[in-house]
Amino acid sequence: MNRRDFLKMSGAGLAGATLLGATGCGGGGSSSGELIFSMGPDDTGAYHDLIDKFNEQHKGEFQVRYREMPSDTGQYFDQLKTEFQAGGGEIDVMGGDVIWPAQFAAQGWIVDFSDRMTESEQSKYLSGPIESLTYDGKIWGVPWYTDAGMLYYRRDLLEQVGISAPPKTWPELQEMALQVSQETGTKYGFVFQGAEYEGGVCNGCEYIWTHGGNVLDPDDPNKVVIDSPEAIAGLATEQSMVEEGVSPQAVSTYTEEETDPAFLNGTAVFARNWPYMYALAGSSDYPKVKPEQIAVAPLPVGEPEPTVASALGGWNFLVNAASDMQDEAWEFIQFMTGESSMKYSAVNATLLPTLKSLYDDPEVVEAIPVIKLGKEAIQHTRSRPVSPYYGDMSLEMAEKYASVVKGDTSPEEAVKALKADLENIIEQAQ
Ligand code: GLC
Repeated sequence: MNRRDFLKMSGAGLAGATLLGATGCGGGGSSSGELIFSMGPDDTGAYHDLIDKFNEQHKGEFQVRYREMPSDTGQYFDQLKTEFQAGGGEIDVMGGDVIWPAQFAAQGWIVDFSDRMTESEQSKYLSGPIESLTYDGKIWGVPWYTDAGMLYYRRDLLEQVGISAPPKTWPELQEMALQVSQETGTKYGFVFQGAEYEGGVCNGCEYIWTHGGNVLDPDDPNKVVIDSPEAIAGLATEQSMVEEGVSPQAVSTYTEEETDPAFLNGTAVFARNWPYMYALAGSSDYPKVKPEQIAVAPLPVGEPEPTVASALGGWNFLVNAASDMQDEAWEFIQFMTGESSMKYSAVNATLLPTLKSLYDDPEVVEAIPVIKLGKEAIQHTRSRPVSPYYGDMSLEMAEKYASVVKGDTSPEEAVKALKADLENIIEQAQ
């Protein structure tokens, strides 16, 4: 019994508590008639709006309470892990990163949704998010929104210098970033996520992929292929951003949270980020740079094998296996993933829908450039490995990629070390 249930129980007396204990009350906001939903910070207020609407419709039945979790996906994950290990915790429904389902499912911590997510139900969603939820032949949740790494740029500043189109290659980006920042007096050329955390892994992989490299063999995920000239070239480009003064040294500590103000307060010409940042432009937190001053483009490509690619990110709804509000959880998830809620999140928070139908909805696609590009970008996204051991692999990549950005490790050393580390993890898992 968790602390909250315990406090609720105190009026009911010890006999009741013993009874509940005997029926195995573990976790979940069950006895309170409250469904606890966890997710990272609600930057635009869209989660609150939707939850309020749901609660309004379910007065007298049950209510959803939003519990804010860390914006860093790794910290959020660790917090959940601690609660699950301690017997479940209070959370019923989680907004969960696409890299989590396999890891949680392998531990039996989340609910198998195979009965509810039938084949015909699954076919309504984009395939990437469905794959992220598929592990051991079962499906472990419902897709919410999808993410793809994108290049943001200040359209107004490029125009000021006479540049009409965004860069297509990384060397072009470097050249433009230096020129535009100098000529317009903008402090930084390009900002991205170079810190030692999950977002740094996404950025590092994108540099590797866009130069034609890979981390694992796409046809055999047990084979590590990171020790290639393409991967080395990719990490060399990432390192050169700081070395050439295109990016500030501080990008080695940047997550998404530092990227937003750097770009949206007008301090950088280019930024790599996920679609959500678009919705923050011109908002009360970031009034300085307006949406009409910014534009988005696919991530640039590099030699020796120019390849359009970006990391597949995104978030799913997962249900705590220890929750005894599973029907209520399903009701809430259906509301949040219905066309109307997904459209609301798309229009108000620029979260890319996972329902295919919304990509044909003119109100969604035409109104928001980032979603129009998202439709294209989604075709070029690559997943991080769907594996119960992904967390271990990610920690190794996070460390090495960040060390490359800092200039402490050469790209050659980094891929050599990563080959050994990742092979080790795969071997141990077998
Ligand atoms: C975004 C993505 C998520 C990724 C994270 C990294 O939230 O949706 O998949 O792991 O960024 O910071």
